[in-house]
Amino acid sequence: MTQFNDSQLTAAVIDSFAETPNPRAKFLLQELVKSLHEYVRKTDLTFEEWGYAIDFLTRTGQKCTDIRQEFILLSDVLGVSMLVDAVNHRERDGATETTVLGPFYVGEHRKTAHGTDISADLQGERMFVQSRVTDLHGKPLAGVPVDVWHADDDGFYDSQKPSYATEGPSSRARFITDDDGRFFFRTILPCSYPIPTDGPVGEMILQTRRHPMRPAHVHFLVNAPGYEPLITHVFIDGDKYLDSDVVFGVKDSLVHKLERRAAGGKAGGRIVDRPYAVMTYDFVLAPSSKD
Ligand SMILES: [Fe+2]
Repeated sequence: MTQFNDSQLTAAVIDSFAETPNPRAKFLLQELVKSLHEYVRKTDLTFEEWGYAIDFLTRTGQKCTDIRQEFILLSDVLGVSMLVDAVNHRERDGATETTVLGPFYVGEHRKTAHGTDISADLQGERMFVQSRVTDLHGKPLAGVPVDVWHADDDGFYDSQKPSYATEGPSSRARFITDDDGRFFFRTILPCSYPIPTDGPVGEMILQTRRHPMRPAHVHFLVNAPGYEPLITHVFIDGDKYLDSDVVFGVKDSLVHKLERRAAGGKAGGRIVDRPYAVMTYDFVLAPSSKD
């Protein structure tokens, strides 16, 4: 048969993947065809709309570079990233909750000494961050790499600024936990920020009258051998966008109330000469489900 009605067409495309050697790939492709065909059928998609979608996805790909990931952003604003997170983390058993990686992770960060001010070049309210990484039973995990990154006081990541190419990373570093599972550093308080609106994803957000804002947060990626990788943020309590994060990434357990300290206090063994905020947030890792 070479001519199909629309339901025969769907069955034929599903069947065309029947010999896929990898059973999981076969299942994913066949389910994708089912869902895509159902969408076209349900919406009576026009040629013009189909063409727009092709152009939109093309522009999304064209906007990607080594340090910009427009497709992750698309996944984030459509809630797909958080849905993948949800279906993969149904049982946390007391481990720290996870959230989106986001589009501004640029790969492995530069190893940095504890106590370093990772935003020394930036204006903003100063913040001291202290943390400990443990297993589910409170045992400290030593020698674990922890990548941190966050936006500046104007709401931009270092990789969004021209200075990234010449001056390198800022508000971005890797710490290795000490024997007691601890790490600490200095930085500035990040502020809430809009996702990039100069690409197709931002264009969609603005045209659909959604706001592009994310509540202020610091990203953490903790990767210990034998444990589930932890990709998360710590959100700053009081931010006005906590209830309407454009990427749906907020979880209550990740919202942290900062401690405010007066000038003259000691943080990480040094006197701080101006008022500052302290973020104290510990991370609990679940054992890896893989052998
Ligand atoms: Fe972020």
